[in-house]
Amino acid sequence: MKKMEIPRIRTPEPQAFERTHIERIRTMAPECMVLLKNNGTLPLKDIGKIALFGNGARHTVKGGGGSGDVNVRHFSTVEEGLLSAGFIITSTEWLDGYDRVTASNKEAFFAALRCEADAAGVPPMLFALGKIAPEPEYDLPLVGDGDTAVYVLARNSGEGADRLAAPGDIELTASEIRDILTLNEKYKHFVLVLNVGGLVNLEPVSSVGTVLLMGQLGTPTGDALADVLTGKSYPSGKLAMTWASIADYASSANFGGINDTEYREGIYVGYRQFDSEGKKPTFAFGSGLSYTSFEVKSAELMHDNEQFLLPVTVKNIGDRRGREVVQLYLSAPEGRLDKPYQSLVAYKKTRELAAGENQTLTLSFSVDSMASYDEKEAAWVIEAGTYFLRVGTDSRNTVISGKIEVSGEIITERDKNVCACDVFRDEKYRTIPYTHEKSSCAAALTLTSADVQTRITSYSQAPTEISDFTSFLSDEELAQLCVGRHTDSDDLMEIIGNAAKAVAGAAGETTERLPGQPALVFADGPAGLRLCQKYTVRDGVASGGSSANDDALLIYTPEERAQMKSASSDADGAEEYFYQYCAAVPIGTCIAQSWNDELAFECGDIVGAEMERFGVHVWLAPAMNIQRNPLCGRNFEYYSEDPLISGNMAAAITMGVQKHPGRTVAVKHFACNNQETNRFFTNSILNERALREIYLKGFEICVKKAQPGFLMTSYNLLNGVHTCNRRDLLKDVLRNEWGFKGIAMTDWLVTGGMGECGEKWPCASAAGNIKAGNDLTMPGMPSDVIDILDALENPYHPYALTRAELALCAERILCQIASLTEKAGRHAT
Ligand code: BGC
Repeated sequence: MKKMEIPRIRTPEPQAFERTHIERIRTMAPECMVLLKNNGTLPLKDIGKIALFGNGARHTVKGGGGSGDVNVRHFSTVEEGLLSAGFIITSTEWLDGYDRVTASNKEAFFAALRCEADAAGVPPMLFALGKIAPEPEYDLPLVGDGDTAVYVLARNSGEGADRLAAPGDIELTASEIRDILTLNEKYKHFVLVLNVGGLVNLEPVSSVGTVLLMGQLGTPTGDALADVLTGKSYPSGKLAMTWASIADYASSANFGGINDTEYREGIYVGYRQFDSEGKKPTFAFGSGLSYTSFEVKSAELMHDNEQFLLPVTVKNIGDRRGREVVQLYLSAPEGRLDKPYQSLVAYKKTRELAAGENQTLTLSFSVDSMASYDEKEAAWVIEAGTYFLRVGTDSRNTVISGKIEVSGEIITERDKNVCACDVFRDEKYRTIPYTHEKSSCAAALTLTSADVQTRITSYSQAPTEISDFTSFLSDEELAQLCVGRHTDSDDLMEIIGNAAKAVAGAAGETTERLPGQPALVFADGPAGLRLCQKYTVRDGVASGGSSANDDALLIYTPEERAQMKSASSDADGAEEYFYQYCAAVPIGTCIAQSWNDELAFECGDIVGAEMERFGVHVWLAPAMNIQRNPLCGRNFEYYSEDPLISGNMAAAITMGVQKHPGRTVAVKHFACNNQETNRFFTNSILNERALREIYLKGFEICVKKAQPGFLMTSYNLLNGVHTCNRRDLLKDVLRNEWGFKGIAMTDWLVTGGMGECGEKWPCASAAGNIKAGNDLTMPGMPSDVIDILDALENPYHPYALTRAELALCAERILCQIASLTEKAGRHAT
């Protein structure tokens, strides 16, 4: 097989593709912003003097931290965006003052962290992962001139730590509350801009009349904000997560357990809980204003095979251009199974509508969306009764627009039960009866079992025969194929630092130990492609400096930092440098806020183009766990509390990447990776109905629609077993029920490296991965290979293996390598 040449850029000068990508992101970014409140202040009437305050004004957050942090050449801060739009910033004194406050705060925080890291004997960089210095208190004079003030409130979070329901994180600090309220009183026009990746509690500043959720939009963040503030563009995003007081989320009662977390709220996640209880959130799921207003009228519901279709006409009745998102919810009757008040079954966004213009959209959903998982039957069932369809522009603002009458129970699919849990019964939250509104829609459509073809899943057995494809390989070679490229050392820093060889800063590769066999390169996401910016190549090995962000580096002393810098910039006096500057796209949460699958596709397309350019085969993204609770530290990477949005966004972004021959994604983290606390050793406990309807549904949609090339299992355990060791999850559900054809791979170091075991649970087993059909263990350690070989020979190994089981995983990997490298090679020539 031909070895792929990695294309290399030899100049640090900005490339044409960078400019194009940043421009494309800037154009789409306003669609991701959510206008939460507007008292007429936005768009601003003129571009003149502006008083700019807040921790995000100059220290804007473009995306969160950890492996999802993209190393961009530069990104526009809010201050820069406003300056280049022509504003005159009159509050430089405050901004300079805040620079000093935040610098000394971070320094003190990381110095203390370093002492803790040394005491614990953990490498400083790993200890710093996900740690964010808490926002300090300060009292800086609010000096600024003009009629207009903008306050940018920023929050950052990242991998390895959950958020805190405390001032400086979900809550505002006393300094922030004081300053926001003062500015709101003092200035004629005041805008609160939220530069956040998730919830903040705005209750103490509820008197503010204009609030824009800018989010974290990647490279052009500040420029895109300027476009929206000035009316050059307009916001058209909607929340994809319910914003409420943290105590009101049912999941808050059981979040972040060290050893075990019980998902007692079952299916009642996000709006499914709030709407069922009739509890008013601060900002509802699906809500978001526009600079104009719309009228939404639906026509008659139609039935076509196993699909329902509802035409809806949206008219722009305001006086500015804009786009609206129409949402279709289904209320199912309660029967044997309790049902949420409603769940989203379809949504569509209009094109840009000029004042007075209208557009008819057809929203459609399949009968499968009407079914609930019944554990007793091990089947998806549509219970008898009346199903109401509600059309609206947020979950609390809907009208009944259709009815479906189901006379007798219908089974859409028969499966088998998986991932057993016998710990608790799910809580019920439904207090609002589903018939409480008068239904003004036309006669109901009927659905009977004759209209629906029941699918019956057949579950394949373990392989007994070895295919010809792998028969010439030794056991050791098969095992190496199923473990990522690694050195002969089990040293953690060695493993992390040496995970990829062909592309500097990439997170890993497949093995290079089989002669003539090309390796696949994996690089992180999901907010763009995470690579090193500057690197050298020696003996075919590309290496650059650390790809960690500046803040985390503060855990090192100034001397250590200087040494690291000179080591990476000198690179042993290398003669030639190469450059990789990638664009950061909006974080997952912001992409979902666009409610526009085409926008997600375009993000994937941008990343796919950069993968081609830099020689990356597999993007470790999209991250698509459900936003179960606002405290999860990685929620910003994820899309939504709703599985339909999560699945659709992930599918679209996957298709955008896969449009590029030989490039694919690893959707992650499968599944129930909903907290960062003790992430390697925490056990998510939940019943199968919630598992299938909420936590697996998005993955199912993505797999069925887009057939991603890879899927990454999660760190956590699921009902007592690591997900990568769960055969029922990987073989029965993923492959047999959904028809996944790709490679299942682990998340990094789940088989060790972070300690032999947690307080209660052990590490995952590399042999267990093979047994379960998790083909590839990443990033790969010698101990993984040893474990697999031992399981082949030792019948008493807890995951004793046959050669056929190992060969099946190896064969899938070989086929995927051949397919991707062949397509990439053909495209390149
Ligand atoms: C993260 C993954 C990431 C991997 C490789 C892990 O710590 O959980 O999301 O893709 O590292 O960097």
